[in-house]
Amino acid sequence: MTRVLITSALPYINGVKHLGNLAGSMMPADVFARYKRARGIETLYICATDEHGTPAELAAAAAGQNVATFCTEQHRIQYDLGRRYGLSWDHFGRSSSSQNRALTQRFAQTLWERGFIEERVTKQVYSLSDKRFLPDRYVVGTCPQCGYDAARGDQCDNCTRQLDPVDLISPRSSVSGSTEIEIRDAKHLFLKQTAFAPRLQEIINGKKGEWPVLVTSIAQKWLDEGLQDRGITRDLAWGVPVNAADWGPNPQGVRPDVKGLEGKVFYVWFDAPIEYIAATWEWADAKAPGGKAVDSDWERWWRGPESSDVTYVEFMGKDNVPFHTVGFPCTLIGVNETQDANGTWRPADNAPWKLVDTLKGFNWLDYYGGRFSTTHKRGIFMDTALELLPADYWRWWLTANTPESSDATFTWEQFQAQVNADLADVLGNFVNRILKFTETRFDGLVPEGGEDGPTEIKLAADVTEKLTELTAMLDAAEMRKACQALRQLWVLGNQYLTEAAPWTAVKTDRDRAAVAVRTGLNLVALFAKVSEPFIPFAAEVIAGGVGELVPGTWPTAETALKLLPIGRPVKAPEVLFRKVEDAQVAAWIERFGGASSAGA
Ligand code: MF3
Ligand code: ZN
Repeated sequence: MTRVLITSALPYINGVKHLGNLAGSMMPADVFARYKRARGIETLYICATDEHGTPAELAAAAAGQNVATFCTEQHRIQYDLGRRYGLSWDHFGRSSSSQNRALTQRFAQTLWERGFIEERVTKQVYSLSDKRFLPDRYVVGTCPQCGYDAARGDQCDNCTRQLDPVDLISPRSSVSGSTEIEIRDAKHLFLKQTAFAPRLQEIINGKKGEWPVLVTSIAQKWLDEGLQDRGITRDLAWGVPVNAADWGPNPQGVRPDVKGLEGKVFYVWFDAPIEYIAATWEWADAKAPGGKAVDSDWERWWRGPESSDVTYVEFMGKDNVPFHTVGFPCTLIGVNETQDANGTWRPADNAPWKLVDTLKGFNWLDYYGGRFSTTHKRGIFMDTALELLPADYWRWWLTANTPESSDATFTWEQFQAQVNADLADVLGNFVNRILKFTETRFDGLVPEGGEDGPTEIKLAADVTEKLTELTAMLDAAEMRKACQALRQLWVLGNQYLTEAAPWTAVKTDRDRAAVAVRTGLNLVALFAKVSEPFIPFAAEVIAGGVGELVPGTWPTAETALKLLPIGRPVKAPEVLFRKVEDAQVAAWIERFGGASSAGA
């Protein structure tokens, strides 16, 4: 039996996430994790808040809070929201944890000692009025390539070219708008990513055809454009301190010249992915007696022979793919391997850190064809969505519309139509019909009945087909297709009831009616089981209607319609899914903006 390690991209700390964020990382990761657990597979699903960087500092300042207090509060808010959506993280950590600080510093130290980090003096933009060096993206100006007048220092949003802020024409600070800026020398550490290009190419070649094309093509594009050595330090107060004074000599016998590195922190994109590992360490500490785990408790998921039975799956939006196919792997390869004089890569020790096995990257979920936007408060956010409807409505719609092969778009009209049809008309109606009927005509007990007839035999074949499809799609983490197969399973339930019509049969042939009821109730149990990864709250209510189901087992063709013992008491739950009314949709469009706000 293999174990599964799952991570979803770490949500940034600067505010409550919108449904687009949820759809393209945490939600599919959660469905996948729940599915693996439902199969009885040892699963660890790790997430955390990504807390460093200038946006965190600026958001804290805007909130009038000290950045550490701001992050603690926002972490709590995101944690609570995640729980209310049923996100089944084994641990939801913080990239500002002491564990991440230690691990980030340790990795950087190793990279230096292997010769993969270099000290360089760079030209950097200093804002006289802000009295600070400006991070690349907080310098704006005219793009030297295309002339766009609001290009950011790191990238031009118009022509997508990567930029260096010193190349911008008429640069200004986006923090204060001030043009009183000058170029100063600043020392920084650079990770020599160029050295890793052939290794990365090897890895990506091995994943073509296995990973989504979206992912391998983004990675390939980066490799084709040529990797750049990457500055991994920043002039900020908030972050993981560089701490280079503790480092040993590099292969040339040189210790870092720490003068000019004092007070610097690592770049947020350097420490954030390391938090996947560090959050696992946090998880182990949190459950260890005395709050201090032994290393093997968490390392068994991440490094060396003890982790060889672990499959590591990452979930993220497409904007994160470069950092997970290039940035983070460079860090790990540099820690795991060394290069000999001929440039050949060799394992550096016998406990290498695990690189990603499967990378699931997603397109965007849009709001009426325009982007959801945290800064412009456009679209629906996790907290407000839950004020409108229970989590399972959102979970179902988002999973059924996972932006896998292309961007997807949310509209209230489509949302209403889909949740009403799938959840209320098909699933809710089925569960209710059969359980109510059992209560009134079969004393609320699973009846014995006689042999299956042709209708049941046909049903069993159809159920097997759809169950096989659902299982295959879940194994592949193909969420849209999985939802489609599940919906078709639910439909089979209604079709069967209509055909077997126990309410008619009961008048003339009680035994025939009993077979239909027994079969219908087993479908309810089956639906509770296989719907759990998608709509765990409703699944629990449905399961409650038919009594305990064995945990950690996934139905098979043999067991699918035999989950309930004869004579088990059953009970119809309260209304499972209330329909979304036209008046509600009208009010929500009014409140959140609809088609007319597209492209805003
Ligand atoms: N916070 C980043 C974002 O919202 C994602 C970070 S993923 C990590 O895009 F692995 F780097 F942490
Ligand atoms: Zn440009």
